Amino acid sequence: MSRTTPSPKEEAKETGFLDQTLRPNSWQEYIGQEAVKANLHILLTAAKERSHPPEHLLFYGPPGLGKTTLAHLIARETGAQVKATSGPAILKVGDLAAILTNLSAGDILFIDEIHRLNKAIEEVLYPAMESGTLDIIIGKGPSARTIQLDLPPFTLIAATTRIAMISAPLRSRFSGGVFKLEFYTDAEIAKIIERSAKLLGVDIEPGAVTEIAKRSRFTPRTANYHLKRCRDFAQINKTSLSSASVEKALALLGVDELGLTRADRDILTTMINKFGGGPVGLSTIAAALSEEQATIEEVYEPYLIQLGLLERTPRGRLATDKAYAHLGLKGSAKLL
Ligand SMILES: Nc1ncnc2c1ncn2[C@@H]1O[C@H](COP(=O)(O)OP(=O)(O)OP(=O)(O)O)[C@@H](O)[C@H]1O
Ligand SMILES: [Mg+2]
Repeated sequence: MSRTTPSPKEEAKETGFLDQTLRPNSWQEYIGQEAVKANLHILLTAAKERSHPPEHLLFYGPPGLGKTTLAHLIARETGAQVKATSGPAILKVGDLAAILTNLSAGDILFIDEIHRLNKAIEEVLYPAMESGTLDIIIGKGPSARTIQLDLPPFTLIAATTRIAMISAPLRSRFSGGVFKLEFYTDAEIAKIIERSAKLLGVDIEPGAVTEIAKRSRFTPRTANYHLKRCRDFAQINKTSLSSASVEKALALLGVDELGLTRADRDILTTMINKFGGGPVGLSTIAAALSEEQATIEEVYEPYLIQLGLLERTPRGRLATDKAYAHLGLKGSAKLL
């Protein structure tokens, strides 16, 4: 029997559910990102010894690499409560003031997508991060005055997929550090798949683990999603979860042997067929595909760059020889 590709909405719902059920609950279960983990270990241990909440932290990197998971693990380790919000959810200065004044000593405030916080609100965050105070302006015009409230000691943990959009003043206030999450190796992804299979009660052959890992964009969230889809496929077709069934299941989803989806391939073919392989500006690619620039930049490009299929040059994006070869298209990347 055949299956259709899920809609983006269905996919988001399913991955949201998987994120919750498969989220690592301990440092041992959190595979990879060794440098980040080592630094956090030092920071958290030192803070504990001083009996003080850890300093403010910023995590960045492409979606699904484990930023939110890290925030939750830190909370678990420090025994802190997490109050979670996101940049776009904080619409007014008053919203942030309400969140900050409701914090208890030692709480972790997690702000996801912090790059989408507006400038006026960002400025309220500066003194809160730096000196634990909240400046509130009461009244308007000449009679306006500022009152200063002391906040309980807290840790801000923020996450973003777009570090370039974080202003230098905000960035510098993450006194605990700014950490980049890296793509995972195939071996790390394989470990994550094995763990997830156990949690989902799925029997999986080693060859199937390898095949899923290869097609998972070096990203845990994608690996978990693929595992689930392959499990469904095997169940419905009454076969085992083997490398052969994984190949079929993922091909049906439009995922090729490099882990590229239809959307990734559309980006490359558009660049090659319409713009001679580039260099072509991001805004032009986005317009040609009726896709948002930010989505191309945050979601698709990092993986295409990582695979060496696309290059960012000062004159625009360039499809590489490897992209032509992978898509079986004639021609070659232009020389810079
Ligand atoms: N290091 C890891 N080890 C095991 N599983 C992981 C790891 N990192 C992430 N995962 C899995 O991937 C899922 C997605 O991770 P998470 O929600 O932390 O990503 P994110 O970086 O916050 O993504 P986004 O930018 O979309 O918010 C988690 O629920 C977990 O199941
Ligand atoms: Mg997240």
